Amino acid sequence: MPKMTFIEKNGNALEVEAPLGLSVMEISHKHGVDIEGACGGCLACATCHVVVRPDWYEKLASKREDEEDMLDLAFDLKKTSRLGCQILMSNDLDGLVVALPGAPIPWEK
Ligand code: FES
Repeated sequence: MPKMTFIEKNGNALEVEAPLGLSVMEISHKHGVDIEGACGGCLACATCHVVVRPDWYEKLASKREDEEDMLDLAFDLKKTSRLGCQILMSNDLDGLVVALPGAPIPWEK
């Protein structure tokens, strides 16, 4: 099964199993990672915002316009911010690394 890593707000890097087809937001919920996802993945809240490590950001499917619009409302927006409910796990994303907003971001040091 693919894996992915969440950088949590305290800086801890948590590697978890990431079932194919689940979104990053759904994977975070399975593992008790602190991502809200208030709208359940229907692009209406931006509380599933994650900051993607730049090398992975380039590999993601491009953003839809409604994701762009919703991201504008997100807290602590970065150049590689995405909505976690819009990133679906695939074999190509095995090893994906994302940080929670507000976390110390290791690749920005
Ligand atoms: Fe609401 Fe992603 S869960 S926009």
